[in-house]
Amino acid sequence: MHTSKRDMKKDMKSKTVFHPGQGAMGERDIDPLLDLEAEINRLKREKNAVILAHYYQEGEIQDIADFVGDSLDLSRKAAETNADMIVFCGVRFMAEVANILNPEKLVVLPDADAGCSLEDSCQPVAYAAFKAKHPDHIAINYINSSAEVKAMSDYIVTSSNAEHIINSLPKDQPIIFGPDRHLGAYLNHKTGRDMVLWPGTCIVHEQFSAREITRLKNAHPGALVAAHPECPEAILEVSDHIGSTSSILNFVTNNNSNEFIVATEQNIIHQMEKDAPGKTFYPAPGADGSCNCSQCPFMALNTMEKLYLCMVNEAPYVKLDDDLRVAALKPLEHMLELSPPAAKSAAAAE
Ligand code: 13P
Ligand code: SF4
Repeated sequence: MHTSKRDMKKDMKSKTVFHPGQGAMGERDIDPLLDLEAEINRLKREKNAVILAHYYQEGEIQDIADFVGDSLDLSRKAAETNADMIVFCGVRFMAEVANILNPEKLVVLPDADAGCSLEDSCQPVAYAAFKAKHPDHIAINYINSSAEVKAMSDYIVTSSNAEHIINSLPKDQPIIFGPDRHLGAYLNHKTGRDMVLWPGTCIVHEQFSAREITRLKNAHPGALVAAHPECPEAILEVSDHIGSTSSILNFVTNNNSNEFIVATEQNIIHQMEKDAPGKTFYPAPGADGSCNCSQCPFMALNTMEKLYLCMVNEAPYVKLDDDLRVAALKPLEHMLELSPPAAKSAAAAE
């Protein structure tokens, strides 16, 4: 059954996600012999859809996407696209951003439960109270936050533009920054600004162990450590390069070293192996020395089957109430206006 079964069941918790209606196709209805890749490509043409994927998605999804990128790249692509349907393979807040920036388009996502620990740590009511305590501060929030928290922000930033945007503000302007305290502390250190930090963390980056990374480095003395600024300070201290996912990707591609320890979500290694063939990448270990800690459980909810289904059913889809969307748009527009040009444009999948 390939008829479109979108809509109807609104999720009252988030008020933004619409689940497939009754009679929609489910995983059990997928013919086990179906060539999913061919079907997804057919649906792309038939529905004039564009597939956007984050570097943290599994390799197969990255390979079928039209664009693979970091949060900023993907926001820009979502804002610019002429496609009728945006298929967002990442987490829910990213699909929300696509809807905020390009409300005329249908934004579907493979799994509406793909949340983010940073977003979860920063509930709108508690954030409003935090903000009220700091009336003279500018409110800057990481893009990994809910639409409600975005709507209370002056600026949204990603890890690739945050330092640049903060440096463009008057030096004596105090800032409240959320929800990631590690990214906030890193930016505080880099910019020297007066910053009060919301205490959220990423469950993936928080698990890496500086001791185990050092042990791995000793075993591979030529290996350089590349880390995302969502990592705690102890990890950043043993790193040779700190940056957003696209910045890390550029670093490992252009640096002369042949071995790298990657302190971010492990699926980015798929793109690294494509961009820098012949080099060796080690996922950063956690405290027990294993590498399983570097998979984001939210990103991992998305599968090729769910990607296919969301295109067939045209759901789950994200659509914010208009008042919320307009309020959240303002700080995102400020972000796009102040962002430096892309260091590396989103990778077009082969
Ligand atoms: P960037 O891709 O912007 O570096 O962000 C990483 C991330 O945590 C996305 O959830
Ligand atoms: Fe959120 Fe961390 Fe997963 Fe990124 S990797 S989506 S910050 S939980």
